[in-house]
Amino acid sequence: MALETTRDLFERELGKLYHAEHEILDLHGDLAEAATSEDVRDLFSGHREDTIEQIHRIEAVFEAIGAEPEQHGSSLMEGLLAEKDEFVTDVRTDELRDIGVLRIGTLNERIEITILDELLLLAADLDLSEEVAVNLEANRTEANDALSGMQMFFERERTTR
Ligand SMILES: [Fe+2]
Repeated sequence: MALETTRDLFERELGKLYHAEHEILDLHGDLAEAATSEDVRDLFSGHREDTIEQIHRIEAVFEAIGAEPEQHGSSLMEGLLAEKDEFVTDVRTDELRDIGVLRIGTLNERIEITILDELLLLAADLDLSEEVAVNLEANRTEANDALSGMQMFFERERTTR
């Protein structure tokens, strides 16, 4: 996809986020399965509804800018999924499982937050409608909350080891 305008970039990044959220539906299921403790498992399986809601908000953004929702695959997301596969294959002890699962979860939220930060800046530059910013901000707030939740668990796993 040739990038020539700010609008091109906005659409590409939005498509990337849209694709990432679809991958996350499976990713969180895999992380929940790979986790040892019930708490960590629940943390990831509980995110499914949020992710579906986030996908709907991204679709609302596409609609607000008059574009068809289109997923844009990215090597960033492929890398994260490959990292997850490698970890799940290699991990041998239960105590390492939760730590690794939480690390991959936080990486994922940080990717989402970074793309959302970028989209919000681009939306402001492009003077897009309020609806665009409201939806993107709602997704960013949820991603930030999810990140804090995972960091809390991460800290707890670390101190109870
Ligand atoms: Fe998300």
